[in-house]
Amino acid sequence: MFDQENPDPQFVWFIAEVKKRLNLDLSGYKPHRVKRRTDMLLRKYNVASYQDFMKMIMSDEKKKEEYLDKMTINVTEFFRNPEKWEAIKKTHLPGLMKQNGGKVKIWSAGCSSGEEPYSMGILLEELKAPFSAGILATDIDTGVLAKAKTGIYDERSFVSTSDEVLKRYFKKIDEDTYEVQPSVKNRVQFRKHNMLQDPFEKNLDMIVCRNVVIYFEAETKTLLYKNFVDALRVGGILFVGSTERIFNYRSLNLKVIEPFFYQKEGSV
Ligand SMILES: C[S@@+](CC[C@H](N)C(=O)[O-])C[C@H]1O[C@@H](n2cnc3c(N)ncnc32)[C@H](O)[C@@H]1O
Repeated sequence: MFDQENPDPQFVWFIAEVKKRLNLDLSGYKPHRVKRRTDMLLRKYNVASYQDFMKMIMSDEKKKEEYLDKMTINVTEFFRNPEKWEAIKKTHLPGLMKQNGGKVKIWSAGCSSGEEPYSMGILLEELKAPFSAGILATDIDTGVLAKAKTGIYDERSFVSTSDEVLKRYFKKIDEDTYEVQPSVKNRVQFRKHNMLQDPFEKNLDMIVCRNVVIYFEAETKTLLYKNFVDALRVGGILFVGSTERIFNYRSLNLKVIEPFFYQKEGSV
């Protein structure tokens, strides 16, 4: 990532330290973005050098968390881009379930605080999928995974959720706090996983990876998509974010079934 023409040696050192000490390998991430966001924090804390900033984050847990958060951004909500979730409910999930006796296995990669995999869990409930149909939900960030496991959310997460779904699949805890019902919670298994390093499950029916690859360099993205395709069964679907069209889908053995939904080619 730092093979640009004039890499700043201090920044190169800093990124190597981040890998060593914070266990976060940023080499597949867009370098300009990583630098811009790091520099923002240096300015915020009025720190003169990357060395001083490293000292600061190593001695202050909160600032370390803030740095990791800035690099991996966790923004999410239930049913983000609702029309896509309508299509999943009406067309894509029923299609996959038909091919597989209902027992679909879905992976939400880069699931953040859990709104995305729980949205899928709600749809499985709506479609009365068998109990064995479930979702593996992974993220690199243990902080968001801890929140995801609680299943507790405030109203900011629900801007795209209908009142009907809110009533049916959530328990109201107080004025603007809700908890996911156990029937949905039980369908989702959370796990820490770095999609740029760790091995993938195989034979998946659907992979949802949205609003994550925007942070990755082109080469990293292509390799990641290739690995996603390997992890899908033939006929399985890759669902990507609404700014993340895959241009080289043909060479990845995918076909477009509708914008942002790609299907692994081959005979089902
Ligand atoms: C903007 S959120 C997207 C959440 C959800 N997919 C959505 O679209 O609403 C991006 C998530 O990707 C995670 N992430 C970033 N790099 C990752 C990696 N290498 N492996 C796994 N997760 C990663 C971040 O921690 C963050 O929670």
